[in-house]
Amino acid sequence: LWIPNAEVQRSVIWSIGLAAAGFAITVMLIPVFSSMTLGRGNLGGRDLGKRHDPARRDTVIPESLGIVSGIAFLGLLIVGELVFTRGRPDAYLELSTALLSITFMMLLGFMDDVLDLKWRYKLVLPLVASMPLLVMYDGATTIVLPRFMRFLVAEAGSQSLTPLGGLLALVPGVSVDRHSEGAVLDLGVWYLVFMSLLAIFCTNAINIYAGINGLEPGQSLVIASAILATNLLELVGGGDLESPHLHSARLMLPFCGVTLALLAFNLSPAAVFVGDTFCYFAGMTIAVAGIQGHFSKTLLLFFAPQIINFLYSVPQLFKVVPCPRHRLPGVDAATGLMVPSTYEIKLSDGSTATRDNMTLICLVLRITGPIKEATLTRVLLGIQVVACCAGIWLRFALSSYTLDV
Ligand code: UD1
Ligand code: MG
Repeated sequence: LWIPNAEVQRSVIWSIGLAAAGFAITVMLIPVFSSMTLGRGNLGGRDLGKRHDPARRDTVIPESLGIVSGIAFLGLLIVGELVFTRGRPDAYLELSTALLSITFMMLLGFMDDVLDLKWRYKLVLPLVASMPLLVMYDGATTIVLPRFMRFLVAEAGSQSLTPLGGLLALVPGVSVDRHSEGAVLDLGVWYLVFMSLLAIFCTNAINIYAGINGLEPGQSLVIASAILATNLLELVGGGDLESPHLHSARLMLPFCGVTLALLAFNLSPAAVFVGDTFCYFAGMTIAVAGIQGHFSKTLLLFFAPQIINFLYSVPQLFKVVPCPRHRLPGVDAATGLMVPSTYEIKLSDGSTATRDNMTLICLVLRITGPIKEATLTRVLLGIQVVACCAGIWLRFALSSYTLDV
């Protein structure tokens, strides 16, 4: 490792140890808990991507195994607090706040698996879960506009605001500072609102970009790896024990360990399903890293596929057009290959039309044509990797275009 600060380096090595332990514990416990969730827990589901296969069609796959990776993650970090934060109350408070928010969301995810929650709970409760983070937030509330974007808020070569800049400056709590080379928007309390929305978005976005084996833990692992790469690149450049990037890396390393183990069981043909427990746990853990690591805008770049999937889904999510219970892809009975799934809509002339479900998964299938489930997962995760690499590049490229403030 090339991290200049020896204490920081030691802390990262400890976290790598926690990641390895998390991987091992999750691999050992998933088989044990799969029989329990199917048995007493009565939590299971049919693998809808195997409808063409008489041997697998009626097999019930254990559901909600994200609870195992989640508990392993929480347990390890609670133990980790002993090592990282003994004698450092501020660091202890920060990590405990993260664990509080993540635990709350994991509980909500498990409730969703058992009780099938309504949408209103899925939107309001992440907001509650994000509050401890907002109380503790001590990072910037500003957005620095690079030189080439200054024209949006200020007239060229002068201090006068453009109509958009003027409008922003009118919002209570917002200030627009003009510099000769750029501009700084201080969003004040609105930045906290933005971070709450980020938590709501991250938890739900992973859950609705789902339905084929390996995709839920796969996308989470790719995003977490991109975050980790960003953190390490920052730490190699310098930083002490209080660095927000070190805090984020401490969350992301064990998260990657437990998620990799879960992914191994969820790849096609899936031995277990991860459940909403995992989707909410993963989304909140990633959101916490972004908020406490002070890189919430970079995080949005890594979520590009999820943002596209969400925006494209809006007509179905808000019931402008019908939304079936499951929007996951269909299977061609003859070939076993995946095809876009559809919904029926009544047109104004009384006839009905069949349209593709509005998900990025079905859109990609429309472009590639019928492919195997495992191939589809690989294509979608490939898109995620490209989005994350582009995000890392943009973060470090754009920072050279911003003024020093
Ligand atoms: C979300 C999606 C839904 C999608 C579902 C699949 C929205 C608004 N909701 O609903 O369209 O169909 O996720 O996860 O977009 N399953 C598989 N193969 C997999 C994963 C899941 O067949 O690889 C099936 C299993 O029957 C499993 C069930 O999906 O039991 C889990 O669905 P659940 O997570 O409860 O669906 P939602 O999150 O409500
Ligand atoms: Mg789900």
